Amino acid sequence: LDPLSQDGLDLLESAGSIEYEVRTGLSGQALRDTLAEFDGAICRSGVKITAEALEGNHRLRAIARAGVGTDNIDREAATRHGIVVMNTPGGNTISTAEHAITLMLAMSRNVHPAYQSLLEGRWDRKKYMGSQLAGKTLGIVGLGRIGLSVAKRARAFEMQVLGYDPFFPASRAKEQGIEICQSTAEMLPLVDYLTVHTPLNDETRNMIGLEQIEQIKKGARLINCARGGIYNEEALVAGLKSGQLAGVALDVYPNEPCTESPLFGMPGVLCTPHLGASTEEAQTNVAVEAAELLIDFFTTGAIR
Ligand code: MLT
Repeated sequence: LDPLSQDGLDLLESAGSIEYEVRTGLSGQALRDTLAEFDGAICRSGVKITAEALEGNHRLRAIARAGVGTDNIDREAATRHGIVVMNTPGGNTISTAEHAITLMLAMSRNVHPAYQSLLEGRWDRKKYMGSQLAGKTLGIVGLGRIGLSVAKRARAFEMQVLGYDPFFPASRAKEQGIEICQSTAEMLPLVDYLTVHTPLNDETRNMIGLEQIEQIKKGARLINCARGGIYNEEALVAGLKSGQLAGVALDVYPNEPCTESPLFGMPGVLCTPHLGASTEEAQTNVAVEAAELLIDFFTTGAIR
């Protein structure tokens, strides 16, 4: 239901017993009709499989999400219809972690505005004085696969890494080179950079709002390659205006696609259109894993 890497499609083809079609960009009645025609579906984050899209569906048995987040699928509605929802949590870990590091570096060294100034015919070395990562403190909220991969890379840049994750065993922190904080409140006054790697849910929505931005170390830079809405966007605007924040780098937005935001164009802001997992490697990994999930489910009944 979203563009899928050819390797995943080839795998479906080679399974022999599976026929597939690629139908992308669907919504409303067209999506509902399509979902009712197939036993299984593979999607990325583009298509929104809502309760309405599944209404009256008596055929679909499994949805494989080629990626991590399943927030574009109404899992409760799927469960009510007896439809299994599976994801591929490992395939894009490194690409997403690398994107978070990319944004940290590019934001700290003004890569985008400096290039833009060259395009506009200016040679402005003074204006784009940057800031090193080495010796700085990075706070990571969420120490799952992606959070830990970011930590590893940040350590290679000689950063001090603080982590907060109520589900992460503190006994594993030392081997990862991470100092554990007991709360975001404990972490915020200490960080030069903050990055979040959690799902979006009732506990993480607006986790960083006005109150938290007041607590954060002055001049901090914030990165979000997880899900839009974890940082409150109005609070980010206020933090940038007051100088409490030196930078904000976002790859994700509360409503996607997002082509308008009060943050776009503000000094210190760097944004990309949800590219964290958009590498050849990650897309091959998640497409192959998603195809395997459906093939296994339909041939052996296995649910992963
Ligand atoms: C994911 O959840 O896997 C990533 O955000 C990438 C995507 O949505 O395709």
